[in-house]
This record gives sequence, C-alpha cells and structure tokens, in this order.
Amino acid sequence: MSSQIDVQGQVLPASCEKPLLDALQDAGVTWRESCRNGVCGVCACYLTQGKVDYRQRQPHALTAEAIEAGQILPCIAFPSSTHLTLDAPLYPAPETAITSL
Ligand code: FES
Repeated sequence: MSSQIDVQGQVLPASCEKPLLDALQDAGVTWRESCRNGVCGVCACYLTQGKVDYRQRQPHALTAEAIEAGQILPCIAFPSSTHLTLDAPLYPAPETAITSL
C-alpha cells in the first residue's frame, strides 16, 4: 500500500513497507532521530490524520496519555492508511551543528 504524508506544508510519498522516518528523510525532510527503536522519543510528533502500525515494536518512549493525545514515533511507525498528516516534530533538529570547539 502506498500512502501520502502531509507534513510541514509538503505532501510526500510513503509506503507501508518503510517507517515514516525513512519516508521523511528520503524526501529530504530534516527530522531529529537518535535510537530509531522507539526508546528515546526525540522523533516524536502528533499524528493529526491517518493511522500507523508499530508492528512488533512498542513505542516505549510514549506514555499512555501521549498516545491518547495523538503522539507517534515515526522511527518505528509504518503507515496503515493512505493519507497521514503529521504536525511538526516535538523536538526539532538543531538549525546549526557544532563543527569545532
Ligand atoms: S529516534 Fe528514538 S524513539 Fe524515534
């Protein structure tokens, strides 16, 4: 199944075969990540439309209240509807990187 992701004013292609974070990064969207395993929570955002499936993984970084409020972890979330809308990441990537001290 192919899907579309609305995020930050862009419509991006996605596939149920890849986590949302991969689809975002494949399209050139800068999105913070660390563990890519549902543990750290730095990739979290709100899903305002559509559904995701975590398959055998668990979103350990999210509380039950956060999940109820619509937060997801794109690093382990696969699209399970044809159209998804994501809010901006809760923890945006830094604008600049430190290249030397
Ligand atoms: S990158 Fe750690 S929970 Fe998504």
